[in-house]
Amino acid sequence: MNFISISDAMKKGSGKVAVHGWVYRERGSNKMKFIILRDSSDTIQCILKREKFEKQWSGIDKLQVEASLEIEGMIKKDKRAPTGYEIEASKINIVGLSDEFPVQKDLNEELLGDRRHLWLRSQKMTAILKIRSTVTGALHEYFRQNNFYEFQSPVIIPGGAEEGPTMFEVDYFGKKMYLAQTWQLYAEAAMYALEKIYCIAPSFRAEKSKTSRHLTEFWHTEMEIAWANLDEIMDYAEEMTKHVIKRVLEKNKKELEILGRDVKKLEPSLKKKFPRVTYDEVLKILASKKKMKVKWGKDLRTVEEEKFMELYDIPVFVTNYPKEAMAFYKPSDPKNPKTAKCFDMLGPEANGELIGGSERDTNVEELKKSLKAKGEKLEDYSYYFDIHSYGAVPHGGYGLGTERLIKWICGLDTIKDAIGFPRTMTRMKP
Ligand code: 4AD
Ligand code: MG
Repeated sequence: MNFISISDAMKKGSGKVAVHGWVYRERGSNKMKFIILRDSSDTIQCILKREKFEKQWSGIDKLQVEASLEIEGMIKKDKRAPTGYEIEASKINIVGLSDEFPVQKDLNEELLGDRRHLWLRSQKMTAILKIRSTVTGALHEYFRQNNFYEFQSPVIIPGGAEEGPTMFEVDYFGKKMYLAQTWQLYAEAAMYALEKIYCIAPSFRAEKSKTSRHLTEFWHTEMEIAWANLDEIMDYAEEMTKHVIKRVLEKNKKELEILGRDVKKLEPSLKKKFPRVTYDEVLKILASKKKMKVKWGKDLRTVEEEKFMELYDIPVFVTNYPKEAMAFYKPSDPKNPKTAKCFDMLGPEANGELIGGSERDTNVEELKKSLKAKGEKLEDYSYYFDIHSYGAVPHGGYGLGTERLIKWICGLDTIKDAIGFPRTMTRMKP
C-alpha cells in the first residue's frame, strides 16, 4: 500500500487510496462497521462491509478507539460523512490493538492532566499543538528576517536577574546553583559581539502562583539589541506579535475553528497600532473610567491590568513603571526619574502581561546602588559590571511568555493547555 495523509486523500477525492491512522470513533452492526480514522492531518469515515472481510471480521468487530490501522479502498464524496468523504475499504491491516481508551471529554482537569500523554491525541490538543508550532516557527522567522542571530545562554546559573526568591535551586556537585529565569544577563554580554540576538528557550520560575497564566517552566522568547531605545524595542515587540498572529491566521484557520476561537478578536491587532500609555496615565484612566484608585509606586496587580485592558481590544504597552518597583537593570528615565525606561505589553481579553522589556542601565554606579537597595551581593554581579565597562552602548530587549501568547491566540482558559506537558506548582507528571 502506498500511504497518503487523510487530508491528501480527501484532496484527491476519488479513486483508490491507502491511509493509516488511529480509530477516532467506531460503531457498527453485524453487517457493517463504520470507523472514523484520524491521522495528524484530519479524520475520515471508513466503511467496512462484513461480506468483504469475513475472515478478519472478529478482529474488526472488536476494534476499540485508538487502535492503529492501515486501510485501502475507494474514496468518494459523501455528504453524510463527518468530514464530507468516505472510504469504502477493500483491505485492512490491524497494526496495533488498543485497550479501552481511558480518556473521555468529560473527565475533570485533574484526570485529564494525569492522562496528558493520551489527551494530547484529542482534537483540541492537536489543534493547539499545531498552532504552537506555527507560533514558534513564526517567531524564528521574524527574528531571522530581521537579521537577528540566535544565541543560547546557560540554564544552570550562579545567580538571578529577576526576583531572587523565585528561583529553583540545583544541587550542582554540592554547590548551590539555580535554573535561569531569563537569558538576559548573558544576552547582554553576547549583544556586544552580535548586536541583534534572540532565543526561544525554557525559563524557570519558582513563584508560588497558581493562576491560569503561570507555569514554573515556560518557553521564553527573548531578544536583545544594541543601539536601540525603548520606542524601537517596542516597535520590534509589536511587529513580532503582529507577524505571529498573521501567520496563525494564514496557516491555522481550521485549528482555530476546532477551538471555537472567534478570529474577529485577533484581527484588530493586525490593523491597529498598539497604544503606548505611561503608568501614570494608566492610574488616571483607572480612576476616571473604572473608579479604581491605585496608589502610585507599585507594579500593577492583575485586577488592575484586567480592568484597564477592558478598554482595549488589542495589546497595549504600559511604559514608565516606578523605578523602585522594577528589576535593578532598568534605568531611570531622565524625563521622569522616579520611573524606569521599561514596558509591559498587556494582552486583551484578560490575558495580562505578554511581554516585559526595557532599556538597560549601563551606569555601573547606578547598577550597584539598585542592587544594594534590593539586598543583593555585589560580588555576584561583577561580570555584569565588566560587560558595561568596555564600550557600553545604549541597548535593551524584552521577553515574551510564549505560552501566554499562545493562550491568547487560541482563546484558552488556562496556560496549561498552551504546552504539551505543563509544569506548575501542583503538576509535574507525566
Ligand atoms: O517580565 P519578565 O520577568 O522579564 C524578564 O524575565 C526579562 N529579563 C526579559 C527580558 O527583557 N529579556 O518575563 C518576561 C515574560 C513575561 O512578560 C511573561 O509573559 C512571561 O515572561 N512569564 C511567564 N510566563 C509563564 N509563566 C510564568 N511563571 C511567567 N513568568 C514570566
Ligand atoms: Mg514582567
